[in-house]
Amino acid sequence: MSFVVKMNGAQNNGIHNNGTNGNFMNGNGVHHVSVRTHVSVNPAKLKSSRPRWTVRPSEMSKKTLNPIRAIVDGMKLTPNPEKPMIALSIGDPTVFGNLPTDDTVLQAMREAIDSHKYNGYAPSVGYQKSREAVANFYSCPEAPLEGKDVILASGCSQAIELAISVLCNPGDNILVPCPGFSLYKTLAVSMGIQVKHYNLLPEKSWEIDLQHLESLIDDKTACLIVNNPSNPCGSVFSKEHLHKILSVASRNCIPILADEIYGDMVFPGCDFQSLAPLSIDVPILSCGGLAKRWLVPGWRMGWILIHDRNDIFGSGIREGLVKLSQRILGPCTVVQGALESILNDTTPEFYQSTITFLKSNSEICFSELSTVPGLNPVMPSGAMYIMVGIEMEHFPEFQNDVEFTERLVTEQSVFCLPATAFEYPNFFRIVVTVPEEMMIEACIRIREFCARHYRPRSQDSHELDQ
Ligand SMILES: Cc1ncc(COP(=O)(O)O)c(C=O)c1O
Repeated sequence: MSFVVKMNGAQNNGIHNNGTNGNFMNGNGVHHVSVRTHVSVNPAKLKSSRPRWTVRPSEMSKKTLNPIRAIVDGMKLTPNPEKPMIALSIGDPTVFGNLPTDDTVLQAMREAIDSHKYNGYAPSVGYQKSREAVANFYSCPEAPLEGKDVILASGCSQAIELAISVLCNPGDNILVPCPGFSLYKTLAVSMGIQVKHYNLLPEKSWEIDLQHLESLIDDKTACLIVNNPSNPCGSVFSKEHLHKILSVASRNCIPILADEIYGDMVFPGCDFQSLAPLSIDVPILSCGGLAKRWLVPGWRMGWILIHDRNDIFGSGIREGLVKLSQRILGPCTVVQGALESILNDTTPEFYQSTITFLKSNSEICFSELSTVPGLNPVMPSGAMYIMVGIEMEHFPEFQNDVEFTERLVTEQSVFCLPATAFEYPNFFRIVVTVPEEMMIEACIRIREFCARHYRPRSQDSHELDQ
């Protein structure tokens, strides 16, 4: 019979055992002891109770699904060899090199490295100085913030993960936008949290269908996720609409996770309003980061801003966030070291020129595609995306948006993400960060593709009659 005795490192050190007396120790400090026993044991049973190799993926890993990967990996993406590929699918503004970050941002990083001060571990929630820098940057009289209200995280993704993890238990449900960023569902489902999709209304610039939203709330609803400005819609909610969302949350006592990673990335004439300053009573975890506005998604710097003026979260949620952050340390310390300067020294002209570019590309794309029969683009007001509706009845060769976008690659080498990836069939999403000439060329090819496959309805029925 074999027992396993765990030994700590100190006991382990210096003990050499060659196993001659039936005992031996492996390199991990696990001590196997063979003993004679007086109990008679059936050798067959003994054999069957021995451990076997049964290494299987965990339930959590099996429940983890990124719909974008699942859909894209299942698509036959063979571009037309005669046309260079144009990928309008990737939400990474750095891929084409046309949108570099600000020099100040790079300089701040160089200085952080050269200081040699940021090579070690930081506290799990981030350096106090860096937390204070974020607090000062976002603090306003209506929603004041201090360093203690900021949790730094590895990108906005980890901020969202921490926020969901601290607010929800398995069996609870969360309310997420449809169409919406797929990570919310990926994370929630893997944690045993149910996802309920509330509708956004394309005809109302993707405002939330508030009645539908409220109808989904039940005793198990632990959190409402609001993404503004939106991926994939590029929509920006008005102050009035945000007030109405807050009323629903307040009436039903539901905390909000506000995903504001595209905060302030709005086109001129449109006003970005952060949710927290408008809230009187609803507690809000506002998630953001450097990825989009500062154009450095690979630097993995994100944060949670804890807004809890009525002390509804209390110390429990704060302590919960600290504990969760201790599982795996958050963002890279060099970026933390550069953060204060990144936030305070980046020039307004940098932000402005990004927005000017995104608006101009969105307008090109919108005006080109809105005259293509069978397509209905919805003009965005911010972020980096434009959603385009497909009148599927006019494209009878294709069953759905996935087939439509797949063939667009085969024939025109243009790849747009089918909005089925956002739980929103019959649309596709275009990323507007690509260089202008690529955007123009992509629109020309999309037009050509649609002209080739478009069937007017009268012709359809005429053909059917024959
Ligand atoms: C709506 C939304 N939230 C969060 C994220 C994640 O941001 P990060 O790269 O900082 O993890 C993204 C990234 O595309 C996003 O679109």
